Amino acid sequence: MSDACLIRKVTEQDLPVLLAWRNHADIRRYMYTQHEISLDEHRTWFAEASQDPSRSLLIVEEAAQAIGYVQFSNIEAGGIADWGFYARPDAPKGAGRKLGTMALSHAFGLLKLHKVCGKAIASNHASIAFHQRLGFQLEGVLRDQQRIEGAYHSLHFFGLLSAEWQTKGDLQE
Ligand SMILES: CC(C)(COP(=O)(O)OP(=O)(O)OC[C@H]1O[C@@H](n2cnc3c(N)ncnc32)[C@H](O)[C@@H]1OP(=O)(O)O)[C@@H](O)C(=O)NCCC(=O)NCCS
Repeated sequence: MSDACLIRKVTEQDLPVLLAWRNHADIRRYMYTQHEISLDEHRTWFAEASQDPSRSLLIVEEAAQAIGYVQFSNIEAGGIADWGFYARPDAPKGAGRKLGTMALSHAFGLLKLHKVCGKAIASNHASIAFHQRLGFQLEGVLRDQQRIEGAYHSLHFFGLLSAEWQTKGDLQE
């Protein structure tokens, strides 16, 4: 499954497409900041984030087509990093699973992380099921932890250990 997939760094050339995905209603509504991001704001974010050695901004491609975006932050070998992601809004079903599998193989392989942490807004049922499908454990629910546009949202916190990922052979074929 992963044969036709690759994972690579985000480049300047990706920025317009990445911004269109990030601003898409199906993605934006599950982010912690929900305003429409301008190209200037997006470029400023990229200029800073792409120079930060503790962060990795990545695109997953399948058959030379970008299928989604993943970022890791607080990276340190043997360390505990956070991830965030979105699939291309019009990507076919199954794109998310490929995105997640490629990203976690990268995280526990090349980046040598010990643990990846994710968090999802309680109403984001797809992301919650997605984390569980990839082998993440639900480690806690923080009630009314995030205020978005005046409304409080509970957050589901997930964790996946390197050793747990290594035993999930069915996702790494
Ligand atoms: C979460 C996301 C990456 C999943 O991508 P996807 O292409 O739909 O995922 P797949 O089709 O590969 O499905 C993978 C798993 O995700 C879960 N899933 C995907 N869509 C779902 C839905 N609508 N409802 C419930 N679970 C869903 C399922 O567990 C599924 O596994 P299964 O098909 O074996 O049951 C995608 O929906 C997305 O980009 N969402 C918007 C951005 C976002 O929420 N990012 C995460 C913020 S925490």
